Amino acid sequence: MHSRSLLVAAADHAADFLETLPDGRVGAEELDVDALRERFDVPLPDGPTEPRVVLDELVAAASPGLVRSQSPRYFGYVIGGSLPAALAADMVVAAWDQNAGGYSVSPISSVVEDVVGDWLVELLGLPAGASFGLTTGCQQAHVTCLAAARNGVLDRVGWDVEVGGLQGAPRVRLLVSDERHVTIDRAARILGFGTAALVPFAVAEAGRIDPAALRAELAGGDGPTIVCAQAGDVNTGGFDPLAEIVEAAHAAGAWVHVDGAFGLWAAASPRTRHLLEGHAGADSWATDAHKWLNVPYDCGLAVVADPQPHHAAMVVSAAYLRGSREGERDPSRWVPDFSRRARGFAVYAALRSLGREGIAELVERCCSCARRFAEVLGTDDQVEILNDVVLNQVLVRFGEDDETTDAVVAAVQDEGTCWMSPTTWRGRRAMRISVSNWATTIADVDRSCEAIVRVARAR
Ligand SMILES: Cc1ncc(COP(=O)(O)O)c(C=O)c1O
Repeated sequence: MHSRSLLVAAADHAADFLETLPDGRVGAEELDVDALRERFDVPLPDGPTEPRVVLDELVAAASPGLVRSQSPRYFGYVIGGSLPAALAADMVVAAWDQNAGGYSVSPISSVVEDVVGDWLVELLGLPAGASFGLTTGCQQAHVTCLAAARNGVLDRVGWDVEVGGLQGAPRVRLLVSDERHVTIDRAARILGFGTAALVPFAVAEAGRIDPAALRAELAGGDGPTIVCAQAGDVNTGGFDPLAEIVEAAHAAGAWVHVDGAFGLWAAASPRTRHLLEGHAGADSWATDAHKWLNVPYDCGLAVVADPQPHHAAMVVSAAYLRGSREGERDPSRWVPDFSRRARGFAVYAALRSLGREGIAELVERCCSCARRFAEVLGTDDQVEILNDVVLNQVLVRFGEDDETTDAVVAAVQDEGTCWMSPTTWRGRRAMRISVSNWATTIADVDRSCEAIVRVARAR
């Protein structure tokens, strides 16, 4: 039997960790890979160990290596934390251990996923009736959406890609931005398009796809075409002009896919919604819940306007599986996974605990915090803010050369008050700040700015 005291001890360990977040050092302790490995790398034991001993030793061994990416002053990559309700729900989900692949395996997991799918489609301003799937992340959401796109554009020219595959199929072009996320490239590889099918065209100065360049590219080729646009650039947070892209692409018969890993959440606030103008006219959208919605890892979302190609691309059936009946959802028919975690519960808890207003406030507060970073750091004459801070991302450059910026980023990480990752944007090194945690406040930004300026001056 499972022991209550073991689960309570696990919850205590979790709470102990979370209580270190407000003031603890944000980055992991300086342990190299060998030192980290030593903490776990013992010979595979022959016999059993008491679960309580396993738990306590595991926590003790892992603790120094943990990154406090849940901290309100973690601004690296685009990570997000875990809302209390979502985290608590996910802990219970681990105990329930439901396989959310099919309705017959866990009817309640399917139902909750159905509900959150409808909520998300509405919240993100996407067309009612669109189909969706909860994936591991935005990468897999791209795979799902682009598989639907592949089905859709080839079906229009009379090719059933689910039967015939891509061997012998009409060639598909993927028109992509120069500044697309790398996960688009991998989705293209996984789906058999290959990176040679990607046709990058220049983005305009402001970091947005230039609709004129897109129109020229569309006119310069023919055959099945997919256009990948972006809502929220991973470096700058910038948005492509989606209304113009959708219009141009649809006029040429192309499918429009939107990468909105975090930027799609701009739809949740009346203050940022304008950035997405026209996005509902696209054909598919990929985003994450584990970033800006702050559910525990992992959870992404694939949405497709027309359920038909989406379903055709993902459906599986077998004699031993009970086919779903009217109104019953089989989650595995909408994503590439067969057996899967019941991700819907944590999403439900997050959406329910914040409500529409709370989500809008979360998005707006993160954007205000990003602007505050730019305002405060930008007053220093050794600092240059490289991007137009339209959302939650800030690019900061220190001094005259790349080395200075890299050195400041490394010193800030080492100092421990906050944590940012470096990047290269348009050939120049920068500190990349992403504000995507539900708990971050202006006070956290001010505390972080004080540390950054102090560290930069001390060099
Ligand atoms: C714009 C963009 N697209 C896609 C991804 C990939 O998302 P995931 O890591 O959830 O697969 C990211 C991750 O940061 C992103 O910023």
